[in-house]
Amino acid sequence: MTTVFILNGPNLNLLGTREPEIYGVDTLASIEKQCAAKAKALNLEIDFRQTNIEGELVNWIHEARGKAAGIVINAGAYTHTSVALHDALKAVALPTVEVHLSNVYKRESFRHHSYISPAAHGVICGFGAMSYELALEGISNVLNATRKG
Ligand code: DQA
Repeated sequence: MTTVFILNGPNLNLLGTREPEIYGVDTLASIEKQCAAKAKALNLEIDFRQTNIEGELVNWIHEARGKAAGIVINAGAYTHTSVALHDALKAVALPTVEVHLSNVYKRESFRHHSYISPAAHGVICGFGAMSYELALEGISNVLNATRKG
């Protein structure tokens, strides 16, 4: 079975109560459930994690090499600040989809720059919890295309 790591960064543990007008009312646990159902339909296994610690995300990206075929990552605010996450993703060179619940381009200008995007195959944002499902579809397509050569 092909495994995809779904990595979540800071403050995403507060989903459900955190600025629901921006992020919606889904909790991270319910997003995990939706991802598990989507993954099953796509014949993928997921390893879904969240941390508030930047270095832990770096370690998990390293761990993905050898354990996962691809990465879906919502790095939260580290998206806009972290050269370390950029470097880690470049280093492991796994197909990666950057995901955001909100449409970051409709928001403050400091959210318009991403250190993740140049290291990602693609980016999905603005669809709430559904962004994760779309990201899984996207990564499934990329992995299937890679397999067909
Ligand atoms: C976010 C967008 C980021 O700008 C923000 O810092 C987050 C969540 C999103 O999913 O919309 O924490 O990544």
